[in-house]
Amino acid sequence: MADAPGVLSGKRIVLGVTGGIAAYKSIEVCRRLVDLGAHVIPVLTDAALNMVGPTTFTALASEPPKTSLWADSNPIPHTWMGQNCDAIVVAPATARIISDARTGRSADLLSATLVATEAPVIMCPAMHTEMWAHPAVTDNIATLVERGVVIVPPESGRLAGGDMGHGRLAAPATIVESVVDVLTGSGDTTSSLAGRSVVVTAGGTRESIDPVRFIGNNSSGKQGLALAKAARRRGASVTLISTIASHRDDPPAGVDVVPVVTAADMESAVAAAAPTADIVIMAAAVADFRPVDPADRKIKKDGGVPQIVLEPTTDILASLGANKPDGQVLVGFAAETNDLVENAAGKLERKNADFIVANDVSAPQVGFAHDTNAVTILRSDGSAVSVDLSSKDAIAGAVLDTVTPALKG
Ligand code: CTP
Repeated sequence: MADAPGVLSGKRIVLGVTGGIAAYKSIEVCRRLVDLGAHVIPVLTDAALNMVGPTTFTALASEPPKTSLWADSNPIPHTWMGQNCDAIVVAPATARIISDARTGRSADLLSATLVATEAPVIMCPAMHTEMWAHPAVTDNIATLVERGVVIVPPESGRLAGGDMGHGRLAAPATIVESVVDVLTGSGDTTSSLAGRSVVVTAGGTRESIDPVRFIGNNSSGKQGLALAKAARRRGASVTLISTIASHRDDPPAGVDVVPVVTAADMESAVAAAAPTADIVIMAAAVADFRPVDPADRKIKKDGGVPQIVLEPTTDILASLGANKPDGQVLVGFAAETNDLVENAAGKLERKNADFIVANDVSAPQVGFAHDTNAVTILRSDGSAVSVDLSSKDAIAGAVLDTVTPALKG
């Protein structure tokens, strides 16, 4: 759990701060890491000192910040820190430090420490959109990912100088969550989806009967939420198309939430997001039927028992399967109460999905509204992976582990 007090106690973390405008957010990262019990040693570059003052870190961190290779009597502070830390977090990481980390250029205390360590490194890039998209930066990031550096990808939003775009430092909560993942081995540290785009649907749709009534279902959206968060932790840019109000009101860090209500809303939101996605996961429980003609006023009892005529909705997964872009990985769910594998295999084939995650919603502790699930993940080649009763976070990890190798390139 990212916010359990003490979850990082005993861990020594070097917090590298470089000279981006987002350096002010590193103060929040520092405070949160200390709150979780970590021993935080800030290392500020010269450029960072133009953005934030050392006094703030002296007050909040576990040690006064280090700013130079030559500041104290220890002639090798970089090797000492590199050898004696459990992780190095660089937030924000400018294009310069990313380049130095890739080439091994040891030009100041932080870059020297990055070369002198075998501890896990977590880089949180922040820069203007043009810089983030530059092939030199993209190449450097790809090499660092190959070497096992965990990248906490930047988000979209307001950048320095009032520009809007992609490149804003990830939220401090997201950064700290990644650090906890790395240091507690809670999985999802692989950056295996860095540079990928993932669309997840979640929750049950509601089809109006009249202004106060609807046809709905028991889906809580928890499994979809867990999938969106896990994909984000692995470095993907994630769109969560959800019917669940709390996903809209309290969106998971770094995830773009598109709120929807009906199957038709979900169909159009998916149509907008899916064509450019590398992975689409239809975890939502979409209504199969909707009232043909919802009443615009409340249906009154004294009018007798209403006859509600239904029509089918579009099968979103099947239409995605029929128009699947080359290389896209399409994942459906199957909620079953009987003949689990047989029914799910039928859906896999009919809807042209690459994977179906089948769950027996009649089993104890499985499926709708529970925090746990047990699934069988069917592949289109007929093979299957079974995941025993586990948390929905663990199921999300297993689903991503299973589907990610199907991505090309
Ligand atoms: N699905 C969809 N659009 C629909 C209905 C379902 O995209 N109108 C998707 C679900 O999101 C899920 C998969 O299809 O990924 C299977 O959904 P499920 O409800 O298990 O099966 P159905 O196809 O609706 O068939 P049935 O209700 O007969 O089991």
